Amino acid sequence: MRPEVVAEFRAATEYYHKERHLSRSFRAQSAKLLALLGQGSGVVLDIGAGPALLGPAIVSLGYDYIAMDMVLEMLRGASGILLEHRAAMVVADAEALPFADRSFAAVTAMGVLEYMSNLSQALVEINRVLAPGGVAIVTVPHGSAPYRRSCYAWRRLKAAAKRLLLRREGEPSASVSGTMKYVPTPRRWREEAAKAGFDVAADGFCNCQVLPEPLASLSPGFAQRLGAVMEPACLVRPMRALGTQYVMKLVRA
Ligand SMILES: C[S@@+](CC[C@H](N)C(=O)[O-])C[C@H]1O[C@@H](n2cnc3c(N)ncnc32)[C@H](O)[C@@H]1O
Repeated sequence: MRPEVVAEFRAATEYYHKERHLSRSFRAQSAKLLALLGQGSGVVLDIGAGPALLGPAIVSLGYDYIAMDMVLEMLRGASGILLEHRAAMVVADAEALPFADRSFAAVTAMGVLEYMSNLSQALVEINRVLAPGGVAIVTVPHGSAPYRRSCYAWRRLKAAAKRLLLRREGEPSASVSGTMKYVPTPRRWREEAAKAGFDVAADGFCNCQVLPEPLASLSPGFAQRLGAVMEPACLVRPMRALGTQYVMKLVRA
C-alpha cells in the first residue's frame, strides 16, 4: 500500500460516509458491477470497500459479504450496515490478502486497483483467493476516455503555465489524478489481467462524461446532468469510449 493513498482516503472518509452513495460515479459503477456479479451464494470479498456501500446489495443477491479496506476509519463508519447484514470487516492491504487460497466465491474491487503500488501483485492475490469457478468484478479508470485524456492534458498545461509564470517547478504528473498510479487503456487492463492468470468473461463501460476539462470543472452541475443523460450511450459500441470507468468480469484462465 502507498502512504500517500492512505493519507488521501483517511482525509476523504467523511465524504465517503456522507456523500459517496449519492454520486453518479458510484451509482453507475455499482449498477454495472452488481449486474455482472448476478445472484449466487458463498462469500464475496469486497476489496477497497470504503464504507461498505455495496454490502446490502451484495447480500440481497444471496451472498455473504466481507468488507476489506486498508483504512480503518472507512470501515468503522460501515459497522451499522455490516452488523445489520451479519457481515464482517477486515483491515488489510489488497497486495497481501490475509486469506487462504481459494476462499471466496467472488471478489469485488470498485475503484481501487488504480491505487496499488504493484498492480500485478494485487491481481495475482485476487486470483489466489478465488475458489474454483469464482469470479472477480473490478471497475477501473478507462485511460483512453476523452474525458480522462482532457484531465491529463489540462493538468500538464496548468503545470507548464505555473513553471512559466512563476519560473519554478510545477508538478508534472504521470497520471490524470494525483494518486492514481494506473490509468491505462482497456487493452492494457486486459493484458494485466491475463498476466495474473485471468480470462475476461465480460466487460463494459460506465460513468459517461461528455464535457472535457476544464469545461467540466467550470460547470460541474451541467457536466453531471449531461453525463447522466448520455449514460445509455456507454452501452453502444461507437459511443462507449465516453464511459470514464471500465468494468471487467474476470475468471481464472
Ligand atoms: C475510490 S475508494 C472506493 C471505495 C468503494 N469501493 C466505493 O466505490 O465506494 C478506494 C478505496 O480503496 C481503498 N484502498 C486503496 N488502496 C488500498 C489497498 N492497497 N488495500 C486496501 N484498500 C485500499 C481506500 O482506502 C478507499 O477506501
